[in-house]
Amino acid sequence: MKLVTIVGARPQFIKASVVSAALHPLCQEVLVHTGQHYDANMSDVFFRELDIPKPVYNLGVGSGSHGKQTGEMLMKIEEVLLREHPDALMVYGDTNSTLAGALAASKIHIPVAHVEAGLRSYNMRMPEEQNRVLTDHISMWLFCPTQTAADNLKKEDIQKGGYLTGDVMLDSALHFRALAKQNPEKTAIFDHLGITPKQYRLATLHRAETTEGGLQAILKIFTAFEQLPQLVVLPIHPRTRGLAEEAIKEGGFQNIKLIDPVGYLEMLLLTDSACQVLTDSGGLQKEAWFMEVPCVTLRSETEWVETLAGNWNILAALETDDILHKACDITPDPAARISMPFGDGKASEKIARILTGC
Ligand code: UD1
Ligand code: UDP
Repeated sequence: MKLVTIVGARPQFIKASVVSAALHPLCQEVLVHTGQHYDANMSDVFFRELDIPKPVYNLGVGSGSHGKQTGEMLMKIEEVLLREHPDALMVYGDTNSTLAGALAASKIHIPVAHVEAGLRSYNMRMPEEQNRVLTDHISMWLFCPTQTAADNLKKEDIQKGGYLTGDVMLDSALHFRALAKQNPEKTAIFDHLGITPKQYRLATLHRAETTEGGLQAILKIFTAFEQLPQLVVLPIHPRTRGLAEEAIKEGGFQNIKLIDPVGYLEMLLLTDSACQVLTDSGGLQKEAWFMEVPCVTLRSETEWVETLAGNWNILAALETDDILHKACDITPDPAARISMPFGDGKASEKIARILTGC
């Protein structure tokens, strides 16, 4: 079997690292990087540290409006597909790279495999929700990380092609956390940042809904972070960097340690040792759950509803008081962690076997 895989954004490199490793002995995979993320610390670092093969094609699409970015990807992915003639195309998650890949393949009758199918926020204003709903409806294999995701597909009358495999992000977190803990260059991150395990909180911010509120929205969030009893370490996504720097210029915010995005191995260590995570990221709220670190999700809904059980993950509005209340006054219930809704850490192998029929 010959497979073309499309990746383009940070979380897709992480997911592809484990799935590509599982596919490698079973089929020929042609990896295509759309170029959606291109800074060294948003792209190269993942290929280098996670042992992902160099992409055969880098389409160099870069940043732009939704239409420009998705349109350019669509055109260039189609050219690759016409040249490579794969038996199937694989996409991950819910970014513009996901939709462009799925659409390009579907239009020329190449069957699509979607990893992380069935996730829903039921907020159609989110570009990610549009991308994932549309991708699911044109996919032939729908690899669902959770039972909720599989049920969501049935609610939309997608009856065929759904497989409950577990979450490939659990596979990657377990595998790479073990490697990171043994690597002194990576564990040195705590000394580099001057922080002590369990005595800091870890935050990330990049969602369009967060940055759409402009400087005022970031000021409200930072005002809450400033009042937390532990330092907040904030590896800043390039989308939010300008606003974050402006906010710090305006408000000072001594309790926030703004740093460049870090590689995945360092990020796993920082998450594992945080006393709390505050984030609008999809992936990070789950990683916090995997590592039994309480999380405050700075959004009004989540696709990962399983994490909400027992207050291990709590939704907070982008308002100072609500963030402070959720971050300080609510503690998680250890008894709520009995079930393992994200699988057994072997989702990648299951996906590879189903897809290749081996
Ligand atoms: C994208 C995904 C989002 C995902 C996130 C993961 C879409 C619609 N959004 O959001 O679902 O959660 O990736 O991180 O696909 N930029 C740089 N350097 C880079 C990449 C981006 O400077 O390497 C800046 C540019 O100013 C760009 C902005 O970040 O305009 C946003 O990048 P983009 O890829 O459009 O969206 P993300 O916010 O990264
Ligand atoms: N991540 C990382 N370095 C960082 C911030 C995040 O490696 O500085 C990882 C994080 O551990 C998770 C993934 O990136 O695995 C999440 O990506 P992001 O938040 O950009 O996107 P989302 O998951 O919201 O789509």
